[in-house]
Amino acid sequence: MTGKLQFEALSVETLPSRLGDNEALRARIGKDTSAWKVREVGDGNLNLVFIVEGASGAAVVKQALPYVRLVGDSWPLPLKRSFFEYHALTRQEARAPGSVPAIYHFDEGQALIIMEYLSPHIILRRALIEGRQLPGIARDIGLFMARTLFRGSDLHMAAKDRKADLALFADNVELCDITENLVFSDPYFEARMNRHTSPQLDGLVAELRADRDLKVEAQRLKHIFAANAETLLHGDLHSGSIMVTDGETRMIDPEFAFYGPMAFDVGMLLANFWMSFFSQRGHEQSGKRDAMRAYLLEVTVETWVVFRAEFTHLWRTERTGMLYQKSLFEDQGDRLGAEQALDHVLHQIWTDLLGFAGIEVHRRILGLAHNADFETIADEDLRASCESKALKFGRHLAVNRRQIHSIDEVNHLAALIEQESSI
Ligand SMILES: Nc1ncnc2c1ncn2[C@@H]1O[C@H](COP(=O)(O)OP(=O)(O)OP(=O)(O)O)[C@@H](O)[C@H]1O
Ligand SMILES: [Mg+2]
Repeated sequence: MTGKLQFEALSVETLPSRLGDNEALRARIGKDTSAWKVREVGDGNLNLVFIVEGASGAAVVKQALPYVRLVGDSWPLPLKRSFFEYHALTRQEARAPGSVPAIYHFDEGQALIIMEYLSPHIILRRALIEGRQLPGIARDIGLFMARTLFRGSDLHMAAKDRKADLALFADNVELCDITENLVFSDPYFEARMNRHTSPQLDGLVAELRADRDLKVEAQRLKHIFAANAETLLHGDLHSGSIMVTDGETRMIDPEFAFYGPMAFDVGMLLANFWMSFFSQRGHEQSGKRDAMRAYLLEVTVETWVVFRAEFTHLWRTERTGMLYQKSLFEDQGDRLGAEQALDHVLHQIWTDLLGFAGIEVHRRILGLAHNADFETIADEDLRASCESKALKFGRHLAVNRRQIHSIDEVNHLAALIEQESSI
Protein backbone atom coordinates (compact mmCIF):
# COMPACT_ATOMS: atom_id res chain seq x y z
CA MET A 1 0.00 0.00 0.00
CA THR A 2 2.56 2.51 1.14
CA GLY A 3 4.44 1.86 -2.08
CA LYS A 4 1.81 3.81 -3.96
CA LEU A 5 2.02 6.86 -1.75
CA GLN A 6 4.41 9.67 -2.45
CA PHE A 7 7.83 9.25 -0.90
CA GLU A 8 8.18 10.65 2.57
CA ALA A 9 11.17 10.35 4.85
CA LEU A 10 10.56 8.52 8.12
CA SER A 11 11.54 9.94 11.48
CA VAL A 12 11.89 8.45 14.93
CA GLU A 13 8.52 10.05 15.78
CA THR A 14 6.56 9.02 12.69
CA LEU A 15 7.90 5.50 12.18
CA PRO A 16 5.43 3.65 14.48
CA SER A 17 2.38 5.24 12.87
CA ARG A 18 3.76 4.99 9.32
CA LEU A 19 4.79 1.32 9.64
CA GLY A 20 2.30 0.27 12.34
CA ASP A 21 0.23 -1.78 9.90
CA ASN A 22 3.19 -3.44 8.21
CA GLU A 23 2.56 -7.17 8.69
CA ALA A 24 6.19 -8.22 8.27
CA LEU A 25 7.35 -5.82 10.94
CA ARG A 26 4.47 -6.61 13.31
CA ALA A 27 5.19 -10.32 12.99
CA ARG A 28 8.86 -9.72 13.89
CA ILE A 29 8.67 -7.28 16.75
CA GLY A 30 5.11 -7.37 18.08
CA LYS A 31 1.77 -5.83 17.14
CA ASP A 32 1.52 -3.28 19.94
CA THR A 33 2.97 -0.18 18.30
CA SER A 34 2.73 1.81 21.53
CA ALA A 35 5.48 -0.46 22.87
CA TRP A 36 7.77 0.16 19.87
CA LYS A 37 10.98 1.98 20.66
CA VAL A 38 12.73 3.64 17.74
CA ARG A 39 16.24 5.02 17.55
CA GLU A 40 18.25 6.29 14.64
CA VAL A 41 21.72 4.94 13.97
CA GLY A 42 23.94 7.89 13.27
CA ASP A 43 26.95 6.44 11.52
CA GLY A 44 25.82 6.06 7.88
CA ASN A 45 26.62 8.77 5.34
CA LEU A 46 23.98 8.18 2.72
CA ASN A 47 20.73 6.85 4.22
CA LEU A 48 18.47 6.77 7.25
CA VAL A 49 18.84 3.68 9.44
CA PHE A 50 16.49 3.02 12.36
CA ILE A 51 16.46 0.27 14.96
CA VAL A 52 12.91 -0.57 16.02
CA GLU A 53 12.37 -2.63 19.13
CA GLY A 54 8.99 -4.05 20.10
CA ALA A 55 7.66 -6.40 22.76
CA SER A 56 8.85 -9.53 20.94
CA GLY A 57 11.87 -8.54 18.91
CA ALA A 58 13.76 -5.94 16.92
CA ALA A 59 14.35 -5.01 13.29
CA VAL A 60 16.27 -2.50 11.22
CA VAL A 61 14.51 -0.10 8.87
CA LYS A 62 16.78 1.45 6.26
CA GLN A 63 15.42 4.20 4.05
CA ALA A 64 17.11 6.03 1.20
CA LEU A 65 16.65 9.79 0.86
CA PRO A 66 16.54 11.72 -2.42
CA TYR A 67 19.90 13.18 -1.45
CA VAL A 68 23.06 12.25 0.47
CA ARG A 69 22.11 12.30 4.16
CA LEU A 70 25.40 13.74 5.35
CA VAL A 71 25.49 16.57 2.80
CA GLY A 72 21.80 17.43 2.28
CA ASP A 73 19.74 18.60 -0.75
CA SER A 74 22.78 20.07 -2.46
CA TRP A 75 23.88 16.54 -3.37
CA PRO A 76 20.88 14.75 -4.89
CA LEU A 77 21.04 10.96 -5.13
CA PRO A 78 18.16 8.85 -6.44
CA LEU A 79 15.93 6.75 -4.20
CA LYS A 80 16.37 3.77 -6.48
CA ARG A 81 19.63 2.89 -4.70
CA SER A 82 17.36 1.14 -2.23
CA PHE A 83 15.98 -1.03 -5.05
CA PHE A 84 19.51 -2.10 -6.00
CA GLU A 85 20.45 -2.76 -2.40
CA TYR A 86 17.39 -4.95 -1.96
CA HIS A 87 18.01 -6.92 -5.14
CA ALA A 88 21.71 -7.32 -4.34
CA LEU A 89 20.87 -8.61 -0.85
CA THR A 90 18.48 -11.25 -2.20
CA ARG A 91 21.08 -12.46 -4.71
CA GLN A 92 23.83 -12.55 -2.09
CA GLU A 93 21.59 -14.58 0.22
CA ALA A 94 20.85 -17.05 -2.58
CA ARG A 95 24.51 -17.35 -3.61
CA ALA A 96 26.09 -17.28 -0.14
CA PRO A 97 23.35 -18.29 2.33
CA GLY A 98 23.58 -16.77 5.80
CA SER A 99 26.05 -14.05 4.81
CA VAL A 100 23.69 -11.03 4.83
CA PRO A 101 20.85 -9.84 7.11
CA ALA A 102 17.51 -11.55 6.48
CA ILE A 103 15.11 -9.32 4.56
CA TYR A 104 11.59 -8.98 5.96
CA HIS A 105 10.07 -6.40 3.62
CA PHE A 106 10.88 -4.05 0.75
CA ASP A 107 8.86 -0.98 -0.26
CA GLU A 108 10.12 0.47 -3.51
CA GLY A 109 8.03 3.67 -3.41
CA GLN A 110 9.20 4.55 0.09
CA ALA A 111 12.72 3.28 -0.73
CA LEU A 112 12.84 1.27 2.45
CA ILE A 113 14.08 -2.13 3.47
CA ILE A 114 13.06 -3.82 6.69
CA MET A 115 15.69 -6.33 7.73
CA GLU A 116 17.14 -8.40 10.50
CA TYR A 117 18.68 -6.43 13.37
CA LEU A 118 22.20 -7.78 13.76
CA SER A 119 22.99 -7.87 17.45
CA PRO A 120 25.38 -7.96 19.25
CA HIS A 121 27.34 -7.47 16.00
CA ILE A 122 29.55 -4.44 15.59
CA ILE A 123 31.11 -2.89 12.50
CA LEU A 124 34.35 -4.72 11.65
CA ARG A 125 36.25 -1.46 11.18
CA ARG A 126 35.48 -0.48 14.77
CA ALA A 127 36.59 -3.86 16.07
CA LEU A 128 39.91 -3.57 14.21
CA ILE A 129 40.51 -0.05 15.53
CA GLU A 130 39.94 -1.39 19.04
CA GLY A 131 42.55 -4.05 18.36
CA ARG A 132 40.17 -6.99 18.46
CA GLN A 133 41.20 -10.14 16.65
CA LEU A 134 38.18 -11.82 15.13
CA PRO A 135 38.85 -15.49 14.52
CA GLY A 136 36.43 -16.16 11.65
CA ILE A 137 36.50 -13.16 9.34
CA ALA A 138 39.02 -14.36 6.77
CA ARG A 139 37.16 -17.60 6.21
CA ASP A 140 33.70 -16.01 6.17
CA ILE A 141 34.62 -13.14 3.86
CA GLY A 142 36.74 -15.34 1.58
CA LEU A 143 33.79 -17.72 1.13
CA PHE A 144 31.34 -14.86 0.63
CA MET A 145 33.44 -13.31 -2.12
CA ALA A 146 34.14 -16.59 -3.94
CA ARG A 147 30.49 -17.66 -3.85
CA THR A 148 28.88 -14.39 -4.83
CA LEU A 149 31.45 -13.48 -7.47
CA PHE A 150 31.56 -16.94 -9.07
CA ARG A 151 27.82 -17.64 -8.93
CA GLY A 152 26.92 -14.20 -10.31
CA SER A 153 29.03 -14.64 -13.43
CA ASP A 154 28.92 -16.40 -16.80
CA LEU A 155 30.99 -19.14 -15.21
CA HIS A 156 27.85 -20.29 -13.47
CA MET A 157 24.64 -18.55 -14.54
CA ALA A 158 22.58 -19.20 -17.66
CA ALA A 159 23.59 -16.50 -20.16
CA LYS A 160 20.00 -15.30 -20.48
CA ASP A 161 19.60 -14.83 -16.72
CA ARG A 162 22.92 -13.06 -16.35
CA LYS A 163 22.13 -10.67 -19.19
CA ALA A 164 18.77 -9.83 -17.61
CA ASP A 165 20.51 -9.15 -14.31
CA LEU A 166 23.20 -7.10 -16.01
CA ALA A 167 20.46 -4.94 -17.55
CA LEU A 168 18.72 -4.54 -14.18
CA PHE A 169 21.83 -3.34 -12.37
CA ALA A 170 23.06 -1.22 -15.30
CA ASP A 171 20.60 1.40 -14.11
CA ASN A 172 22.52 1.96 -10.87
CA VAL A 173 24.20 4.80 -12.73
CA GLU A 174 24.53 7.43 -10.04
CA LEU A 175 26.18 5.24 -7.41
CA CYS A 176 28.49 3.83 -10.03
CA ASP A 177 29.38 7.36 -11.01
CA ILE A 178 30.41 8.01 -7.40
CA THR A 179 32.83 5.07 -7.56
CA GLU A 180 34.12 6.07 -11.00
CA ASN A 181 34.99 9.57 -9.84
CA LEU A 182 35.71 9.28 -6.13
CA VAL A 183 37.79 6.11 -6.36
CA PHE A 184 39.57 6.27 -9.68
CA SER A 185 39.97 9.94 -10.60
CA ASP A 186 39.47 12.56 -7.87
CA PRO A 187 42.40 11.38 -5.69
CA TYR A 188 44.81 12.11 -8.55
CA PHE A 189 44.08 15.80 -9.02
CA GLU A 190 42.88 18.64 -6.81
CA ALA A 191 39.20 17.77 -7.06
CA ARG A 192 36.80 20.03 -5.18
CA MET A 193 35.79 17.70 -2.36
CA ASN A 194 39.21 16.15 -1.72
CA ARG A 195 41.01 16.57 1.55
CA HIS A 196 44.12 15.19 3.18
CA THR A 197 46.07 15.68 6.38
CA SER A 198 47.74 18.99 5.70
CA PRO A 199 50.37 20.36 5.65
CA GLN A 200 52.13 17.13 6.71
CA LEU A 201 51.19 15.20 3.57
CA ASP A 202 51.33 18.09 1.05
CA GLY A 203 54.69 17.10 -0.42
CA LEU A 204 53.86 13.43 -0.90
CA VAL A 205 50.41 14.26 -2.27
CA ALA A 206 51.93 16.59 -4.88
CA GLU A 207 54.41 13.86 -5.79
CA LEU A 208 51.65 11.28 -6.28
CA ARG A 209 49.54 13.67 -8.37
CA ALA A 210 52.52 14.29 -10.62
CA ASP A 211 53.24 10.57 -10.95
CA ARG A 212 52.43 9.74 -14.56
CA ASP A 213 52.78 5.95 -14.15
CA LEU A 214 50.36 6.02 -11.24
CA LYS A 215 47.78 8.15 -13.06
CA VAL A 216 47.87 5.94 -16.13
CA GLU A 217 47.53 2.81 -13.98
CA ALA A 218 44.58 4.30 -12.07
CA GLN A 219 42.85 4.98 -15.38
CA ARG A 220 43.63 1.50 -16.69
CA LEU A 221 41.96 0.15 -13.55
CA LYS A 222 39.01 2.45 -14.08
CA HIS A 223 38.80 1.11 -17.63
CA ILE A 224 38.68 -2.46 -16.29
CA PHE A 225 36.05 -1.44 -13.74
CA ALA A 226 33.86 0.15 -16.38
CA ALA A 227 34.33 -2.35 -19.21
CA ASN A 228 34.63 -5.73 -17.51
CA ALA A 229 31.08 -6.48 -16.41
CA GLU A 230 31.81 -10.05 -15.37
CA THR A 231 29.84 -10.46 -12.17
CA LEU A 232 27.51 -8.79 -9.68
CA LEU A 233 29.76 -6.95 -7.24
CA HIS A 234 28.90 -5.90 -3.73
CA GLY A 235 30.50 -2.67 -4.88
CA ASP A 236 31.41 -1.23 -1.45
CA LEU A 237 32.98 -4.16 0.37
CA HIS A 238 35.10 -2.48 3.02
CA SER A 239 35.39 -3.11 6.75
CA GLY A 240 32.60 -0.57 7.38
CA SER A 241 30.19 -2.76 5.39
CA ILE A 242 30.82 -5.86 7.50
CA MET A 243 29.30 -6.61 10.91
CA VAL A 244 30.89 -9.14 13.23
CA THR A 245 30.80 -11.07 16.48
CA ASP A 246 33.48 -13.56 17.49
CA GLY A 247 31.46 -16.28 15.79
CA GLU A 248 29.63 -14.55 12.93
CA THR A 249 30.30 -12.29 9.95
CA ARG A 250 27.63 -10.53 7.89
CA MET A 251 27.96 -8.25 4.91
CA ILE A 252 25.64 -5.23 4.77
CA ASP A 253 24.98 -2.22 2.54
CA PRO A 254 25.40 -3.36 -1.09
CA GLU A 255 23.74 -0.25 -2.54
CA PHE A 256 26.71 0.19 -4.92
CA ALA A 257 25.98 -3.24 -6.46
CA PHE A 258 26.93 -3.33 -10.11
CA TYR A 259 28.27 -5.70 -12.73
CA GLY A 260 32.03 -5.29 -12.73
CA PRO A 261 35.31 -7.17 -12.37
CA MET A 262 35.61 -9.82 -9.64
CA ALA A 263 38.90 -8.33 -8.52
CA PHE A 264 37.22 -5.08 -7.46
CA ASP A 265 35.47 -6.47 -4.35
CA VAL A 266 38.49 -8.57 -3.37
CA GLY A 267 40.94 -5.70 -3.84
CA MET A 268 38.84 -3.17 -1.93
CA LEU A 269 38.38 -5.59 0.95
CA LEU A 270 42.06 -6.50 1.26
CA ALA A 271 43.02 -2.83 1.03
CA ASN A 272 40.98 -2.21 4.16
CA PHE A 273 42.99 -4.83 6.07
CA TRP A 274 46.23 -3.26 4.89
CA MET A 275 45.00 0.21 5.88
CA SER A 276 44.08 -1.15 9.30
CA PHE A 277 47.64 -2.54 9.48
CA PHE A 278 49.20 0.87 8.76
CA SER A 279 46.82 2.65 11.15
CA GLN A 280 47.61 0.46 14.17
CA ARG A 281 50.55 2.61 15.25
CA GLY A 282 48.12 5.47 15.71
CA HIS A 283 46.15 3.40 18.22
CA GLU A 284 49.00 2.15 20.37
CA GLN A 285 48.49 4.46 23.37
CA SER A 286 46.60 1.71 25.14
CA GLY A 287 49.20 -0.97 24.44
CA LYS A 288 51.44 -2.42 21.75
CA ARG A 289 49.78 -3.58 18.60
CA ASP A 290 52.47 -5.97 17.30
CA ALA A 291 50.22 -8.99 17.64
CA MET A 292 47.38 -7.11 15.95
CA ARG A 293 49.62 -6.20 13.00
CA ALA A 294 50.68 -9.83 12.63
CA TYR A 295 47.03 -10.89 12.84
CA LEU A 296 45.99 -8.46 10.10
CA LEU A 297 48.63 -9.76 7.70
CA GLU A 298 47.57 -13.33 8.48
CA VAL A 299 43.98 -12.33 7.72
CA THR A 300 44.96 -11.12 4.25
CA VAL A 301 46.76 -14.42 3.58
CA GLU A 302 43.88 -16.55 4.82
CA THR A 303 41.23 -14.52 3.01
CA TRP A 304 43.06 -14.98 -0.29
CA VAL A 305 43.72 -18.69 0.38
CA VAL A 306 40.07 -19.34 1.26
CA PHE A 307 38.86 -17.29 -1.71
CA ARG A 308 41.07 -19.23 -4.11
CA ALA A 309 40.19 -22.62 -2.63
CA GLU A 310 36.44 -21.97 -2.78
CA PHE A 311 36.63 -20.44 -6.25
CA THR A 312 38.57 -23.51 -7.39
CA HIS A 313 36.00 -25.82 -5.81
CA LEU A 314 33.15 -23.99 -7.55
CA TRP A 315 35.09 -24.02 -10.83
CA ARG A 316 35.32 -27.82 -10.65
CA THR A 317 31.78 -28.47 -9.44
CA GLU A 318 29.51 -25.61 -10.58
CA ARG A 319 30.93 -24.43 -13.90
CA THR A 320 27.59 -24.51 -15.69
CA GLY A 321 27.69 -21.18 -17.54
CA MET A 322 28.73 -20.42 -21.08
CA LEU A 323 32.38 -19.72 -20.27
CA TYR A 324 35.05 -22.46 -20.37
CA GLN A 325 32.33 -25.10 -20.82
CA LYS A 326 32.86 -28.61 -19.57
CA SER A 327 31.91 -29.80 -23.06
CA LEU A 328 35.24 -28.41 -24.27
CA PHE A 329 37.35 -29.72 -21.41
CA GLU A 330 36.22 -32.42 -18.94
CA ASP A 331 33.79 -34.00 -21.41
CA GLN A 332 36.71 -34.43 -23.84
CA GLY A 333 38.81 -36.02 -21.13
CA ASP A 334 40.79 -32.77 -20.88
CA ARG A 335 40.71 -32.00 -17.17
CA LEU A 336 44.07 -30.31 -17.42
CA GLY A 337 42.64 -27.82 -19.90
CA ALA A 338 40.05 -26.76 -17.33
CA GLU A 339 42.80 -26.36 -14.71
CA GLN A 340 44.90 -24.31 -17.12
CA ALA A 341 41.96 -21.99 -17.76
CA LEU A 342 41.34 -21.70 -14.00
CA ASP A 343 44.95 -20.61 -13.51
CA HIS A 344 44.45 -17.86 -16.09
CA VAL A 345 41.26 -16.61 -14.48
CA LEU A 346 42.71 -16.62 -10.94
CA HIS A 347 45.89 -14.95 -12.12
CA GLN A 348 43.89 -12.15 -13.74
CA ILE A 349 41.90 -11.62 -10.53
CA TRP A 350 45.16 -11.53 -8.55
CA THR A 351 46.88 -8.98 -10.78
CA ASP A 352 43.86 -6.69 -10.89
CA LEU A 353 42.99 -6.91 -7.21
CA LEU A 354 46.42 -5.53 -6.30
CA GLY A 355 45.71 -2.51 -8.46
CA PHE A 356 42.23 -1.96 -7.02
CA ALA A 357 43.68 -2.31 -3.51
CA GLY A 358 46.32 0.34 -4.18
CA ILE A 359 43.75 2.78 -5.54
CA GLU A 360 41.38 2.14 -2.63
CA VAL A 361 44.13 3.04 -0.16
CA HIS A 362 44.77 6.30 -2.00
CA ARG A 363 41.18 7.42 -2.20
CA ARG A 364 40.67 6.90 1.54
CA ILE A 365 43.54 9.26 2.31
CA LEU A 366 43.39 11.75 -0.58
CA GLY A 367 39.73 11.82 -1.57
CA LEU A 368 36.38 12.68 -0.01
CA ALA A 369 35.49 9.49 1.89
CA HIS A 370 38.12 8.92 4.55
CA ASN A 371 37.98 6.03 6.98
CA ALA A 372 37.89 5.95 10.75
CA ASP A 373 41.07 3.84 10.97
CA PHE A 374 43.13 6.94 10.19
CA GLU A 375 40.58 9.67 11.06
CA THR A 376 40.38 8.65 14.71
CA ILE A 377 44.12 9.20 15.20
CA ALA A 378 43.93 12.58 16.92
CA ASP A 379 47.66 13.45 16.73
CA GLU A 380 47.95 14.80 13.19
CA ASP A 381 51.67 14.16 12.85
CA LEU A 382 51.19 10.57 13.89
CA ARG A 383 48.18 10.22 11.57
CA ALA A 384 50.13 11.68 8.65
CA SER A 385 52.98 9.30 9.32
CA CYS A 386 50.63 6.28 9.20
CA GLU A 387 48.92 7.66 6.09
CA SER A 388 52.16 8.35 4.25
CA LYS A 389 53.21 4.73 4.62
CA ALA A 390 49.87 3.52 3.35
CA LEU A 391 50.13 5.91 0.39
CA LYS A 392 53.55 4.56 -0.57
CA PHE A 393 52.29 1.01 -0.22
CA GLY A 394 49.27 1.79 -2.42
CA ARG A 395 51.44 3.36 -5.09
CA HIS A 396 53.71 0.33 -5.17
CA LEU A 397 50.78 -2.07 -5.57
CA ALA A 398 49.04 -0.06 -8.27
CA VAL A 399 52.11 0.49 -10.43
CA ASN A 400 53.91 -2.84 -9.92
CA ARG A 401 50.96 -5.19 -9.75
CA ARG A 402 52.09 -7.33 -12.68
CA GLN A 403 55.45 -7.97 -11.05
CA ILE A 404 54.10 -9.13 -7.68
CA HIS A 405 53.54 -12.85 -7.38
CA SER A 406 52.30 -13.71 -3.91
CA ILE A 407 50.46 -12.30 -0.95
CA ASP A 408 53.55 -13.01 1.18
CA GLU A 409 55.46 -10.66 -1.09
CA VAL A 410 52.83 -7.96 -0.53
CA ASN A 411 52.91 -8.47 3.22
CA HIS A 412 56.70 -8.35 3.24
CA LEU A 413 56.45 -5.00 1.47
CA ALA A 414 53.90 -3.77 4.05
CA ALA A 415 56.16 -4.81 6.93
CA LEU A 416 59.17 -3.14 5.30
CA ILE A 417 57.35 0.15 4.74
CA GLU A 418 55.95 0.02 8.29
CA GLN A 419 59.49 -0.21 9.69
CA GLU A 420 60.83 2.71 7.64
CA SER A 421 60.87 6.14 9.17
CA SER A 422 58.19 8.19 7.47
CA ILE A 423 57.87 11.64 5.85
N1 LIG B 1 21.02 -5.01 9.74
C1 LIG B 1 21.64 -4.22 10.63
N2 LIG B 1 21.72 -4.59 11.93
C2 LIG B 1 22.34 -3.80 12.85
N3 LIG B 1 22.88 -2.61 12.55
C3 LIG B 1 22.83 -2.18 11.26
C4 LIG B 1 22.21 -2.97 10.25
N4 LIG B 1 22.30 -2.29 9.09
C5 LIG B 1 22.94 -1.14 9.37
N5 LIG B 1 23.26 -1.08 10.68
C6 LIG B 1 23.98 0.03 11.36
O1 LIG B 1 23.69 1.22 10.66
C7 LIG B 1 24.89 1.80 10.14
C8 LIG B 1 24.63 2.41 8.77
O2 LIG B 1 24.21 1.38 7.89
P1 LIG B 1 24.62 1.37 6.37
O3 LIG B 1 26.11 1.29 6.24
O4 LIG B 1 23.83 0.31 5.70
O5 LIG B 1 24.09 2.82 5.97
P2 LIG B 1 24.53 3.79 4.80
O6 LIG B 1 23.76 5.04 4.96
O7 LIG B 1 24.39 3.09 3.49
O8 LIG B 1 26.02 4.07 5.18
P3 LIG B 1 27.30 4.34 4.26
O9 LIG B 1 27.67 5.72 4.54
O10 LIG B 1 28.31 3.37 4.81
O11 LIG B 1 26.92 4.07 2.86
C9 LIG B 1 25.90 0.67 10.11
O12 LIG B 1 27.21 1.15 10.22
C10 LIG B 1 25.48 -0.16 11.32
O13 LIG B 1 26.03 0.40 12.49
MG1 LIG C 1 25.86 2.78 2.09
